[in-house]
Parts: sequence; C-alpha cells; structure tokens
Amino acid sequence: MNTAKHERVLVIDFGGQYNQLVARRVRECNVYCEIYSYRTPLEEIRGMNPKGIILTGGPDSVYAENAASCSPELFSLGVPVLGLCYGAQLMMQVLGGRVERAPEREYGKTEVIIDKAGSPLFEGIDSPTVCWMSHNDYISQAAPGFEITAHTGNCPVAAAENAGRNLYAIQFHPEVLHTEHGFEMLRHFVMDVCGCSGDWRMDDFAESMIAELKKKIGSGKVLCGLSGGVDSSVAAVLLSKAVGKNLTCVFVDHGLLRKSEGDMVEEVFGPDGPYDLNFVRVNAQDRFYIKLAGVQEPERKRKIIGEEFIRVFEDEAKKIGHVDYLVQGTIYPDVVESGLGGESAVIKSHHNVGGLPDYVDFREIIEPLRDLFKDEVRQVGLRLGIPEKLVMRQPFPGPGLGIRIIGDVTAEKVKMVQDADAIFREEMERAGINGEASQYYAALTNVRSVGVMGDERTYDYAIALRSVNTVDFMTADVTEIPYSVLKTVMNRIINEVDHVNRVFYDITSKPPATIELE
Ligand code: XMP
Repeated sequence: MNTAKHERVLVIDFGGQYNQLVARRVRECNVYCEIYSYRTPLEEIRGMNPKGIILTGGPDSVYAENAASCSPELFSLGVPVLGLCYGAQLMMQVLGGRVERAPEREYGKTEVIIDKAGSPLFEGIDSPTVCWMSHNDYISQAAPGFEITAHTGNCPVAAAENAGRNLYAIQFHPEVLHTEHGFEMLRHFVMDVCGCSGDWRMDDFAESMIAELKKKIGSGKVLCGLSGGVDSSVAAVLLSKAVGKNLTCVFVDHGLLRKSEGDMVEEVFGPDGPYDLNFVRVNAQDRFYIKLAGVQEPERKRKIIGEEFIRVFEDEAKKIGHVDYLVQGTIYPDVVESGLGGESAVIKSHHNVGGLPDYVDFREIIEPLRDLFKDEVRQVGLRLGIPEKLVMRQPFPGPGLGIRIIGDVTAEKVKMVQDADAIFREEMERAGINGEASQYYAALTNVRSVGVMGDERTYDYAIALRSVNTVDFMTADVTEIPYSVLKTVMNRIINEVDHVNRVFYDITSKPPATIELE
C-alpha cells in the first residue's frame, strides 16, 4: 500500500507500554500513523514530512545517565510536537525546564484541574477531569516560554504548552481509556493543532491494495498459509481477488482447532465457497498427536506444534513446486513487536510463526496487512465481504487447544475440550454476553477427582472455564458472568461431555495469570 501519499503523524517510542495504543488512537482519527524508535535520526524524521510528532512514555528517568533522549532540534522542525508522560518530561528538560523525583508517586485515576480552558487540547472539556497517571518523576518547573495548562494535587505541571511553537506536554496518558476525555485531547492535537484532514480510511484500502498486488505479481504463483484466523483470511482474500487461481492456500488442520472450525474454514475458502483460489486442506491430526504423545511441558508442546506445522506446510509446498511469492498475514503490531518499528524489542515468541519453511523456494514475501492494526484488518475483511463470524473472531493461539489442555495431549482430551468449549460458546451467545467478553474458552485441567454420577463413583477430569475482558490483551479482567449462566454451562458440560465431573471458573486477572493456561 502506498502510504506515502497520506498525511502522517509519527509516534516516537521511548519504550512505553502504551506506544501502540497511541498510534491506534491516531488512526482512529483517520490519520495514518507510524511508530519509530527514539534512535531514528532526525534527518529521517524530517524526510518523512510528518504533520505532527508524539513522544511516548518510557521506563527511564530523563535525568538518568544514558536515558533515552532526543535532539533539541526535534522541537524546531516547525512540526507540532506532543509529549506524553516521559515524552512530556523530556520535552521540558531538553528545553530548559526541570524534572525531578516526585515526593509522591502518582498512579491510577487522578483528578486533573485544567488551568487554561482555552488550550486547544482541552477545548470543550470540563475541569476537573479524570486522567490516568503513572509516574515517579514529575515536572517541577516548566521550560521557559511554556504556560502551565493543568495540574493535580501532587503534580504542579500536569500539562503545559508553548502554543506559539505548537509544543504540548501532558504528564498523564490520554491514550488509555481510563482518561475520560483522552481521545478528545489526542484528536484535538491531531486535527486542530497539526491540521490533519483525516485522509486515512479503510474504504479504499482493499481496492487499492488489490490493484497494487495485481500489478506487482502479474502472472506469478502465490502460496499462502491459511489458519482461518482473521489476518491470514483477509490476506488470502485480498490475494485471491488480485491473482485468482494463481493463489494456492494451504490450510493445516493440526487437530487442535475448536469444534467444527476446520469445516468452517473449508466452507469459506474451499471449492464450494465464494472465492476463486486453490484450496488445500491437510488433515494432519495424527501427525501432531503422535508427536505430542506423552509430552507434558508447555514450552515443549508449543515448540513441537510450531515445528510440525512448518514440516507439514513444507511437505505441501513441495507438491506445489516453485512459487514466486509467499504470503504472510503480518500486521502492524507484529512489525512493532519484532523491534522493527519502535522500541519494544522484546519479541513475544508465541506470536511468531516460528520461522519460514526451509524448503519453500520463493522469490519474495508479501505482507499486504503489515501497515494495519487488528481493528483495521477487520474493517477491510468486512468490506471484502468475508463472513462476520470469521472476521470478528476472538484471538486463537497458534498452538490451539494444545495449550488449553494441561499436561499431555490425546485425541480423547481434545474431544472433551472441543465439546465443553462449544457448550460454553453456545451459552455465552444465548445469554448475550459474548460481545462483552474479549476472549473466552474452556480448557482441560489435568486434575482428576472423585465424583458421583447416578449411583456410580467417578474419577474424572475437571474443565476450567476462562473469560476475560481486555482492550490490548496485555492486561485483562475477568468477565463477570452471571451465576445462572455459569450454572447452566456446568450442568450441560457434566451431562453432555463424557469423563468430566467438575467445572471450575477461573477468576484470576492478568497479571498475575496469563490469558491462556499454558
Ligand atoms: P497470554 O496467554 O500471553 O495471551 O496472556 C495473550 C493473547 O495472546 C494469545 N496467545 C497466542 N497467540 N500464538 C498466538 O498466535 C500463541 O502461541 C499464543 N499464546 C497466547 C492469547 O490467546 C491471548 O489472546
């Protein structure tokens, strides 16, 4: 996608945990936004001709030795700059203000008193307003030329601005939902201060991407690994619309999918579906079960599943022969998390596909979605007419049910989890709370315990139900499912799923627990 023609705002990343959220919020204003490390040379930043620059939060203290920093010239490019948290402190320090350890750390929801109602960022926002604070240091003195525009009980400079130079600093985090009017503040910056018109829309993304792919690929052969997840499905449809039968999609059913999931994918992408492509379904269940037999340890299971996946894919690719392009459903957070965009160099191993097949002989990788966030991918998917149940799907881990069965995996256990999970899903939908929860599923604990059924003593398994509400999947709260719904689910699971005699509901938030059990 040619993003160069769009107006853009740059997020300069100082390692803050909310960096992607800042960029997403800007995109929600229909403004194209990219994340770059604070190490990016000034010339490069200037060359991108941004309409505005946002400096993120970060873990350092601006006054510490080797702290992440920026050139003072960044503030003299004639481009509006908004500093958030660490970014705000850095702006103040670099321009001659003072930052020091706060006598009291501020964390959580905090009332902010707006001192300058006429500030462009606070237009239409009443004082006081609730904001999300998270800092140990504070700005004790604003830089010369800056006016203090907001404060809190503990923080003399919660916001400051030099309107003449279009420089703005905010100590709190407008990008998180806990800041009541945070999105409005960001929108004021992007639209009113930077003067963006909002020319980034998903409406024409699909059409122009298809045209671009057509031009690039011509009559080349394309191979796409299809998981049935949102990203690879949208990528596959874009490619099929661009090159038709020159695209082959390989769908590996590893026997660790949810109930009926393989058939659903085949219904959409198979020969009876609406798309013109070559669809290959590989029923590789047994290969995976054999490799997983007796393996208990979670990381080992993940590794086995990842590796076997590549081997199966390779075997299929060999049958197809030479391909010119390999499609990957990489999306923007993957790019950022692999350290290519911003500062978050910590690669979450489980989010990587686990490398490329060695065999596949191809010229180039195509990643049509690498500039998009998940919600944007979904918009494109809906626009392409992909069924909503596929586009709006909850995240499902690559290793699938393999990491939702504690201990060793067997075909019988997979069936138990699939059946229990399908019941849980059905009842959540029936109760109308499926939209509220971000991700929910049933898992098989490796716990067996004594029970009684009819007049018989049982010694059977316990199912754990998990349901979380989250925005970014980094932290999560437990869904407060009504007791009556839980009871119905429990009854049905006990009655309908063989070898289960107990049902637990996991009420742990993340942290300390993760969303998946393994
Ligand atoms: P955790 O368990 O780390 O999960 O709290 C956070 C989100 O990531 C998903 N997840 C995975 N996704 N491969 C994936 O593609 C994996 O190995 C994997 N492990 C966890 C999880 O479902 C949740 O949405």
